[in-house]
Amino acid sequence: MTKLLLLSPNSSDLKEKLPSATILEMKRFPDDEDYIRIPVDVKGKEVLFIHRCYPEQNKSLIQLFLTLDALKRQGAEKISAIVPYFPYARQDKIFMQGEALSSETISKLTKEAGCSELITFDCHYIKKAGEFEYAGLKIKNISLSNEILSYFKTKAKNPIVISPDEGARYLVEKEKGAKVAQKIRGEYNNNGDQLYRGVASMKADFNVLNKDVIIIDDMISTGTTMIKAVNVCKEGKANKIYCGAAHGLFLLNALENLKKAGAEEIVASDTIKSPVSKISITNKLKEFL
Ligand code: R5P
Repeated sequence: MTKLLLLSPNSSDLKEKLPSATILEMKRFPDDEDYIRIPVDVKGKEVLFIHRCYPEQNKSLIQLFLTLDALKRQGAEKISAIVPYFPYARQDKIFMQGEALSSETISKLTKEAGCSELITFDCHYIKKAGEFEYAGLKIKNISLSNEILSYFKTKAKNPIVISPDEGARYLVEKEKGAKVAQKIRGEYNNNGDQLYRGVASMKADFNVLNKDVIIIDDMISTGTTMIKAVNVCKEGKANKIYCGAAHGLFLLNALENLKKAGAEEIVASDTIKSPVSKISITNKLKEFL
């Protein structure tokens, strides 16, 4: 089947490394609703559509659904959506009666809109690399842990590799001597309409004395988790502390706060564009093109 690579305008920075890609036509109506048009013939073809869904998750998800549906209508044979950071993946459990199960809803809608397969990176609710099915959606989950670790290993001396919680264990488990800290989540805040659950404490039963440390997580959002992990390593008198994550959201001044906490360097991939997006997803993507 002929493959065709389609790039959303919000991912056109990847065009340089993926020169064969066609850019999707996307415009806005005066009321800010999105207009989508597939500018090439996709009938009978396998289409890989790269579209970032962060920031502006709600808007970009609508753009994703409209594009998938338009591709289906135009007769594409197989449609793989490449969404580097898949949003709404963190509410993957019902914690309180009556809550929406966002991860399932968004996955179902993606499938329903026409997605044959979702290709994504370090998806929060999967917590391992490989092929899965979730809420009817086929997912290829690629991990960027090797790329992040390789980046730091050129700088750190004999490092000890750490994940800040159980959920991120899969990112470090292949590393010799890797350690997993135990994170205890706090209660939800009760502060207006912004919902946030901090980190109550972090236990680390391992020795980092005079060692370089690489801490790796799937994402740095407010930075609370990573800062706690840096603090724990500082208390243990670690030498240099490097922090890496696949997805760098860096909310609430997280990048500055991490530096202030004592991180030697912070790095993320370009699933989300940030000032420290030094790991490119394009090499991994080329394996599918
Ligand atoms: C949680 O389970 C995740 O793996 C991350 O540790 C978490 O989402 C990071 O969020 P924050 O930066 O707000 O602590």
